[in-house]
Amino acid sequence: MANKRILVVDDDSYVREMTELTLTRKGYEVGTAPEARSALAKLEDGDYDLVLSDIKMPGMDGLELLEAIRTRAPETIVVMITAHASIANAVEAMQKGAYSYIQKGSDSTVAELEIVVERALEHQETKRENRRLRSELHDKSEMIGKSRNMEQVRDLIRTVADTRATVLITGESGTGKELVARALHYDSARRNGPFIRLNCAALPKDLMECELFGHEKGAFTGAIKQTRGRFEMADGGTLLLDEISEIDLGLQAKLLRVLQEREFERIGSTQTLKVDVRILATTNRDLQKEVEEGNFREDLYYRLNVIDVPLPSLRERKEDIPALVKFFTARFSQENGKQIEGLSHEADELLMNYDWPGNIRELENYIERAVVVTRGPVLVSEDFPRKLTAGPYPAAKDDGLQVGMTVAEMERRLIMKTLEACQGNRTEAATKLAISTRTLRNKLHEYGAMDAFKENGKFAGELLPESA
Ligand SMILES: Nc1ncnc2c1ncn2[C@@H]1O[C@H](COP(=O)(O)OP(=O)(O)OP(=O)(O)O)[C@@H](O)[C@H]1O
Ligand SMILES: [Mg+2]
Repeated sequence: MANKRILVVDDDSYVREMTELTLTRKGYEVGTAPEARSALAKLEDGDYDLVLSDIKMPGMDGLELLEAIRTRAPETIVVMITAHASIANAVEAMQKGAYSYIQKGSDSTVAELEIVVERALEHQETKRENRRLRSELHDKSEMIGKSRNMEQVRDLIRTVADTRATVLITGESGTGKELVARALHYDSARRNGPFIRLNCAALPKDLMECELFGHEKGAFTGAIKQTRGRFEMADGGTLLLDEISEIDLGLQAKLLRVLQEREFERIGSTQTLKVDVRILATTNRDLQKEVEEGNFREDLYYRLNVIDVPLPSLRERKEDIPALVKFFTARFSQENGKQIEGLSHEADELLMNYDWPGNIRELENYIERAVVVTRGPVLVSEDFPRKLTAGPYPAAKDDGLQVGMTVAEMERRLIMKTLEACQGNRTEAATKLAISTRTLRNKLHEYGAMDAFKENGKFAGELLPESA
């Protein structure tokens, strides 16, 4: 694991150097800054796990620096060091989110420094680990959407999950390719094996080769120890090759061999290793076209494309937007300790009329942002970026019909509008719509809109027009 990085901020050069020396000896990577402004610049440039800062400094003081760090890099731990040992300052710092404080210039300063830093970093690590575990649990579970498009995807996942077939998952960016890959892994008999992911766009060719196949000690300059590649790590489980179109042509040949024979050698070794790995690949490009243009090997394409799972764009399944909004609103409300009930009518319209080039990821980001900035119990149009109003389908106030809207979505809107007009009286609305109350109830369930009713059948919350 990489060394932990610590930034020491103090205007006193002696303290700076002594602290740096102590911490470097302990194996930390240490940066220093003589005052708060340059500390902030350093923090912008690179990640630090922990900042040790003096309180009294000319210019911006340690408390102000602390506040700036809390907003800009909330994960970074801040520990104050102070010569003046003024308890008041230290208490204030702790109230503002400092992890702890150290008194400088005493006999035990060095020992204290070592202990406090070590504990703080351990604490941070535990927090990160917990968050990771939580989000992993989240990730592998929920796949929202009841549109026909999504049902087809689900059927396909069910059918192919428990096979060893290589699957190519295609779709625009942010449509949920990785989510589907995880579902394929966790729905298969391999679920207790590792799920390993490699982004093929992230590394230059040589490094990518190492990542895939691993290398022996001394295989090349800098290969100081034997390293296992992703194929080895994924043994008994699943390997997801993300953005497969980006893989170098030379490496494609080597990859093809592993796909065919399930065997390979580490770089610098002649020993052939056999692995039991299921391969999943994703791409947001038209691989067929890449083949025609000579960027992608045809034989590899056919190997990967044994089963194709194409994911619909969000604009092709807008009827899933309400359920997704509900899901993300609940998640981010919980994460931010807020209680958000839903969307205003106007905001709902805004989201339905936008064409979502960034798909679900974009929607997820906007909801997160809206939950953070909103002031009331429902998300309103002002909580969303302005560009949503400038989509290719301008919010038509006339008949509400827009090209690009699905029939299912039109039905949903008509039902909701009728309900609003009937003040939430379902019997009356069903009569107007010429459907049974039971059908209406089923539809509302499908939209996840039942919660909008109180016991007395009256409309409440997200579906009320803002003016009401
Ligand atoms: N059906 C869904 N229900 C709930 N959340 C979803 C769904 N599909 C995608 N997401 C969420 O949307 C985000 C983007 O999904 P994911 O990373 O799987 O997309 P991707 O297709 O791999 O994107 P990219 O091409 O940019 O890598 C993730 O946070 C994911 O959890
Ligand atoms: Mg992805």
